[in-house]
Amino acid sequence: MEYKVIENRYVGEGMYYIKIGGSFEARMGQFYMLRAWDKYPLLSRPISIYQIDDEGISFLYKLVGEGTKIISNLKPGDPIKLEGPYGNGFEKVEGRVALVGGGIGIAPLYMVAQNIPNCDIYLGFRDQAIMLDDYKAVCKDLYTTSGDTLVTDIINVEDYDYILTCGPTPMMKKLMEMVEGTKTRVQVSLENHMACGVGACLVCTCKTHSGNKKTCKDGPVFWGEDVIL
Ligand code: FES
Repeated sequence: MEYKVIENRYVGEGMYYIKIGGSFEARMGQFYMLRAWDKYPLLSRPISIYQIDDEGISFLYKLVGEGTKIISNLKPGDPIKLEGPYGNGFEKVEGRVALVGGGIGIAPLYMVAQNIPNCDIYLGFRDQAIMLDDYKAVCKDLYTTSGDTLVTDIINVEDYDYILTCGPTPMMKKLMEMVEGTKTRVQVSLENHMACGVGACLVCTCKTHSGNKKTCKDGPVFWGEDVIL
């Protein structure tokens, strides 16, 4: 389906924010395939949903190649095609919940925070903390780190019943090590490379304790104890 760009701007840390007009419905942690070209580059780009509101849908994205470069040059009013939502998203949980994001992995956590009242959030940045007003408005406590300090250095996992995380694999792996032997359960959203986005190409295969799975279709969110990071 074709839609129109409402807003598209650089927000820092190598990330852009794009808002697209229309009526959308999706679950937290799902993604859309975005495309603003006809033939080249061939593949649409899978991007996690940041927020859905009455005006449309928004995404945070990083420049990773030709496709996202074209998207970053779009102006308000330009057409863009969206397909989705795809993937299975985060499961809603209750209790003491922490969201942990690093880099572009902070993107899906805003919609998660809107859906889980009173959660705390831990965001890891490289140099500069971005989009904090949004997260502050929907989370109980917000913690950020940058530079050499990692979010895994400051979180006490036993303070939480559930941790929902998205970000670099070493960060999520470390969290899984930290919850070992505790009652804390983790849902991880994988950022594996994708091509088709709909389960047809196997580019996004990930390993789980019940065999290989497709990140795009069986994930991108898995229970941490099921997946092999
Ligand atoms: Fe093609 Fe997942 S991206 S099977």
